[in-house]
Amino acid sequence: MKLFLDTANTDEIREAMTWGVIDGVTTNPTLVAREGRDFHHLLAEICQLVPGPVSAEVISTTAAEMVAEAQVLAAVGAQVVIKVPMTPAGLQATTKLKELGIKTNVTLVFSFNQALLAAKAGAAFISPFLGRLDDLGHDGVALISQICVIFRGYNLQSQVIAASIRHPLHVVQVASAGANVATIPFTVLKSMFKHPLTDLGVERFLADWQAAKRPGK
Ligand code: G3P
Repeated sequence: MKLFLDTANTDEIREAMTWGVIDGVTTNPTLVAREGRDFHHLLAEICQLVPGPVSAEVISTTAAEMVAEAQVLAAVGAQVVIKVPMTPAGLQATTKLKELGIKTNVTLVFSFNQALLAAKAGAAFISPFLGRLDDLGHDGVALISQICVIFRGYNLQSQVIAASIRHPLHVVQVASAGANVATIPFTVLKSMFKHPLTDLGVERFLADWQAAKRPGK
């Protein structure tokens, strides 16, 4: 399973890239707005940091405007993938962008039927938001699993990005469910490092090493 970082913060991206575990980045209008920077400059900087897929979302509401916006964003870097919303206009734009050779990530997917439509329209990636489903008392992981099983059965080519991940257990669950990608916030990525026995083990090894070096020993 690939790991994408779900952020528009370049400090987070820069730090995570040094660990060698990040395959790509996803952004959305909320994450970009939080940075208070020009979107195109920000996207260009992210593309310099990350060679893998970088999702940038359109904010238009008609297909023609989405396609025009997508072409400008795609010109920023070869790895840019255009995020389009799961709406009729979004799927129209997805179809057109595929014809133009521009990859899409259909976002705000909350049901299997939406995922199927996005795959049929030629989305390179599909982003079901499991955390937001869980918030409503639905089972987000079950949706990821359903999409992955049926897509593989029918050989549908879109990659499934488990999005709206809220905690480290989600990562384990979507990996078990067969997601192609988990896109995770920086805080969740950092929590994936943590295990108290690792911390204790490092502490004990260092203490034992220092003790063995005491004079007279
Ligand atoms: O990738 C989608 C993600 O950014 C949404 O996460 O936490 O706003 O539901 P959240």
